[in-house]
Amino acid sequence: MARIAVIGMGYTGLGTSIALAKRGHTVTCVDTNPEKVTLLSKGRSPLFEPGFSGEIAALSRRHRLIASIDTPAPVRDADIIFLSVGTPSQPDGSLDTTQLGAACLSVGEGLRGRRRQLVVVKSTVVPGTTESVVIPALESKSSLHAGDFGVCVNPEFLREGHALEDSLRPSHIVIGERDRASGNALLRIYAGFACPKVRTSVRIAEAVKYATNAFLATKVTFANELANICTRLGLDVDEVLRGMSLDPRINPRHLVPGVGFGGSCFPKDLRALVSLSRGVGYEPFLLTTTLSVNERQHMEAVRLLENELRPLSGKRVAILGLAFKGGTDDVRESKALAVASELLLRGAHVVGYDPKAAANFTKAFRGVEIAATVEDALRGSDACIIQAAWPEFSRLGPKQFALMQTPIVIDGRRTWTPRRVPKGIRYRRIG
Ligand SMILES: NC(=O)c1ccc[n+]([C@@H]2O[C@H](COP(=O)([O-])OP(=O)(O)OC[C@H]3O[C@@H](n4cnc5c(N)ncnc54)[C@H](O)[C@@H]3O)[C@@H](O)[C@H]2O)c1
Repeated sequence: MARIAVIGMGYTGLGTSIALAKRGHTVTCVDTNPEKVTLLSKGRSPLFEPGFSGEIAALSRRHRLIASIDTPAPVRDADIIFLSVGTPSQPDGSLDTTQLGAACLSVGEGLRGRRRQLVVVKSTVVPGTTESVVIPALESKSSLHAGDFGVCVNPEFLREGHALEDSLRPSHIVIGERDRASGNALLRIYAGFACPKVRTSVRIAEAVKYATNAFLATKVTFANELANICTRLGLDVDEVLRGMSLDPRINPRHLVPGVGFGGSCFPKDLRALVSLSRGVGYEPFLLTTTLSVNERQHMEAVRLLENELRPLSGKRVAILGLAFKGGTDDVRESKALAVASELLLRGAHVVGYDPKAAANFTKAFRGVEIAATVEDALRGSDACIIQAAWPEFSRLGPKQFALMQTPIVIDGRRTWTPRRVPKGIRYRRIG
């Protein structure tokens, strides 16, 4: 069994840590955030993700998961080091490698004097980053050369809200190897994972992640654009999509209209790819359009609301679901932020509810009253917008909607099929 250090305890780092610890490896979970390390050292999850709490508690008790705020020491003891720190956007959209660069310097310190350890980049990085940022930082602090330590790029494809199942049973594994020995070492770690695995170069592995997210985001935007057109033509976009998806070339997943995509991946990965592309002299019109359609998509929900309730000034509007989607506490680039801003601009009183993301939302945005329960959010509201698909919203019925001043429901996430829409509400949805 290997000794592993995972650097960065976000959704990706925790998913990787749990999956590898459950395979019998000993994993040190490293983060520079003291609160996260304290929680982890008590066997508690520092973020909400279904299944994480139980797994972290059990693995910590068996000393399979160990928390550390220090990087060099656990790196010194590790056979394999996974880098899973954040790679957000810079203001111009390009990739911000600050966290990655800093983490690599600390990892480099731990590599000093050792041989044949493997460093694996799990963070999403644009093609060329491992060569231009990761390896130079590792070399500078370790006084070694790449080759003395191995390097792989192993992009992560997990979905927040399903991070545990995706980490334990990934659909596929992409291994970008700097040399054959590095790829062999990583493949040995993944030997027990029964899924297709592809071995390729470091740059191709970096690019596969962007290609995947750019394609999926474009699919979502395609569905939204089609929905917006169908609405104005008086057509049911779901019927159009159903007919279209019968074509064996078209997979219906991600072809679901709504308020647009948010989260910590699609928007920032698209922006990074656009920036990279422009840097090499190519204007990626399709990708920039995917982004700009997405940036205005939440206005469809606001438009539907205004059609019902104009003027919005003085009206009480509930936003159900503050996370960027159901099943997570992550509010990064959540459409709830954009919707709330628009409603406040129009003078509405906005009350928000989310089963898990309320605390993160409050840190990111002011001016929204936070309700403790969905009933509290609905009580006395003139309308509500369902922004994230939490299962509890699909269980809402006439009793809860009767708490509203006027039971107007704008569904941004296809909470019910048309036949299951609760009785007694005025129901509007995108598309
Ligand atoms: N969140 C997802 O669904 C997802 C899916 C696939 C890929 N990714 C990619 O994985 C990477 C991580 O994203 P995330 O959302 O899991 O992470 P995150 O942004 O939620 O967390 C990153 C963590 O890294 C820690 N960190 C920062 N600098 C550090 C350092 N020098 N040493 C140790 N820890 C440090 C931070 O404190 C934080 O806890 C990103 O590149 C992201 O694009 C994320």
